[in-house]
Amino acid sequence: MRKKTLFCLFMAAILALPMTMLAQKLDNAVKVQSPDGQLELSFAVVDGVPHYALDRAGKPVVLPSKMGFTLEWRDDLAHAFVLKDTKYDTFDETWEPVWGEESQIRNHYNEMLVTLEQPIGSVESMDHSTEKKATVMQIRFRLYDDGLGFRYEFPMENALVYFWVKEELTEFAMAGDHTAWWIPGDLDTQEYNYTESRLSQIRELWDGSHKDGGWPWTAFSPTGVQTAIQMKTDDGLYLNIHEAATLDFPTMHLDYDDQNRVFRAFLCPDATGYKGRVQAPFNMPWRTVMVTTSATDALASRLILNLNEPCALEDVSWIHPVKYMGVWWEMISGKSSWSYTNDFPSVKLGVTDYEHATPNANHGANNANVRRYIDFAAANGFDALLIEGWNIGWEDWYAKQKDFVFDFLTPYPDFDLPALNKYAHEKGIRLIMHHESSASTLNYERWLEKAYTLMNQYGYDAVKGGYVGTIIPFGEGHYSQPINNHYHYCITEAAKHHIMVNSHEAVRPTGLCRTWPNMIGNESAMGTEFRERINPGHTTILPFTRLQGGPMDYTPGIFETDMGKIVPWGGKMRTTICNQLGLYVTFYSPLQMAADFPEHYAQHMDAFQFIKDVAVDWDKSLYLMAEPGAYIVTARHPKLSTLNKAAEGVGTLPDGKKGVVSNATKFVYDLPDDATIEDLWHATPHDVWYVGGITDENAREVEVKLNFLKPGVKYEATIYADAKDASGIPDEHYNAQAYTITKKTVTSKSTLKLRMAPCGGFAVSLRAL
Ligand code: NOJ
Ligand code: CA
Repeated sequence: MRKKTLFCLFMAAILALPMTMLAQKLDNAVKVQSPDGQLELSFAVVDGVPHYALDRAGKPVVLPSKMGFTLEWRDDLAHAFVLKDTKYDTFDETWEPVWGEESQIRNHYNEMLVTLEQPIGSVESMDHSTEKKATVMQIRFRLYDDGLGFRYEFPMENALVYFWVKEELTEFAMAGDHTAWWIPGDLDTQEYNYTESRLSQIRELWDGSHKDGGWPWTAFSPTGVQTAIQMKTDDGLYLNIHEAATLDFPTMHLDYDDQNRVFRAFLCPDATGYKGRVQAPFNMPWRTVMVTTSATDALASRLILNLNEPCALEDVSWIHPVKYMGVWWEMISGKSSWSYTNDFPSVKLGVTDYEHATPNANHGANNANVRRYIDFAAANGFDALLIEGWNIGWEDWYAKQKDFVFDFLTPYPDFDLPALNKYAHEKGIRLIMHHESSASTLNYERWLEKAYTLMNQYGYDAVKGGYVGTIIPFGEGHYSQPINNHYHYCITEAAKHHIMVNSHEAVRPTGLCRTWPNMIGNESAMGTEFRERINPGHTTILPFTRLQGGPMDYTPGIFETDMGKIVPWGGKMRTTICNQLGLYVTFYSPLQMAADFPEHYAQHMDAFQFIKDVAVDWDKSLYLMAEPGAYIVTARHPKLSTLNKAAEGVGTLPDGKKGVVSNATKFVYDLPDDATIEDLWHATPHDVWYVGGITDENAREVEVKLNFLKPGVKYEATIYADAKDASGIPDEHYNAQAYTITKKTVTSKSTLKLRMAPCGGFAVSLRAL
């Protein structure tokens, strides 16, 4: 009796073991290794089913995992395969991004292309015309030193030319119960705080992971997560699953099978429930598994960019980095409104008479206020100013599921579009256009050409887009194939008009900015607009996850962090002024905002100096210390060729101020505030570095070795640090505006000891003397 019980317990334990632990290796596999020989990819067809596995230094990273698709109207791409051919290649090239974290990126990989066939007669097809051909599916694997990319390819010579995907069957079988930083799987929003947990805890924590998130939220599974997901193994490996070059295809989320420790690809369905309509020849997006031995190497990885195609634009001279301010935080904080009037419960474009409407008292985008911002931005060496709420339609834009919501052309009566542009240009500032579509992609496409033409007419060269709410056409989610195609259409049309695009609420990027560098920003994650709801560690996770696919318009720079001082319902943001400064170096974005009000900066002009001095585009970036969810310390070296590009662009406008020198340029060339372009021509650049640090709710002391400075050269370091009693924790010790600014002479032999307050950070500018 006792023996029997023991036996049953033993059997139960065996059955409870994750399935994957039973199959560690693929027999008879074809293999390819990374250039450094550390990563090895194995591929084999097992009983007709394609499988891959990934090892690092002989240890499994991805256990044998299935590949394939189920299809509509036809037998699945999930069985009856034979391996027909295997080809190998190797590639090593260095390319120069138009903008980025460095001026040169090495793209070095070994490749294996497997050609699989479902032989004639082995599968059923509804399409009799193609019965005389085999079905061909190729899988291209690229092995880099820092990870794997693979994609499915469908050549034209194929029984399978047109097909509809029901499910992608790609698996990522995990070799352990890793620690993970994840946001819940959702078809409409990525605006979530990250949850840190073991993989086995995803199910129990999943409901809570929606707390404080964006809207609308549309879940698909109680263990669904989004990519990029960052993980850390107990052996200290950093793994990241994501995708690259998602074009004409739905976004891939992941469904976690916690019985077997397997992530399964979950493609975001379209309104009919399908997950992609394919026409051969077609290459699907890359699926990626980044593998690094340190967190800093994960930040330095360019896997996603490298898997994208080279720049598609011949002329990129019109693309430039942008440091901007905005008539924006007023609305986000609740101080001002986007809308012009309270007269109308319902607005009809072309019918509603705004000319005779009573203005409300707090429309932010009015002429006087916009001029005030232009004056401040110009006086402080910024490139541009965003203005939201300039166009008719904001009275009933939100959550009404309204198709004809905006025309993107007609300004409110108190926004003089020609005059404000002229005023801005004369001061050396460009205005940034705002197109909130309210998620009516249909309506936006209706007006797109006219809207971009209007921008060209008045000299706008950048637009911030938005997709708040339920997507129209109804039934679509934010990341389905047709809607991903919409976002891409906007980018390609904008390029024709020489317009740079920064979309909010659009699909999270997958490195497409390499190919389309006019895509200078995206939000696609929880950004500053979530104010006091943002978790302290959030900004230390984003560079590992969301930012892997491209820059984020996070909109940092809040100096008045107690929102209760602006509106009665406001809370305290979990940050400090120095944490906000640190973000300018931590987050790469060629489009960087100083988000707070001019009057808040005016109270702290000494700390604001860092925002003025910091560059936004780099020729070198060093990730000095990092741990997701805890801290990041980054050092960056400015790229001289783009430093003054935005300022010079304004000078090419007929009414644009000539010879403007941006503030970061003045810092690098050590020029006075009133410097002219002639002064710049005669000046020599100094060697400059910026260092930024951020921490979560834990105070930390870090020692930053300055060994990246030029040996034998003296630098002046300006150190912006949290004061001893600073704290971003919203309790009785909250003290977010307490900082010290010190200057020191340092060399490459110096070490800076810096203390970050809870939720704090630091920023340092270093200029060779
Ligand atoms: C959400 C965006 O993220 C925010 O920046 C913008 O102000 C509003 N939508 C209105 O367009
Ligand atoms: Ca948003």
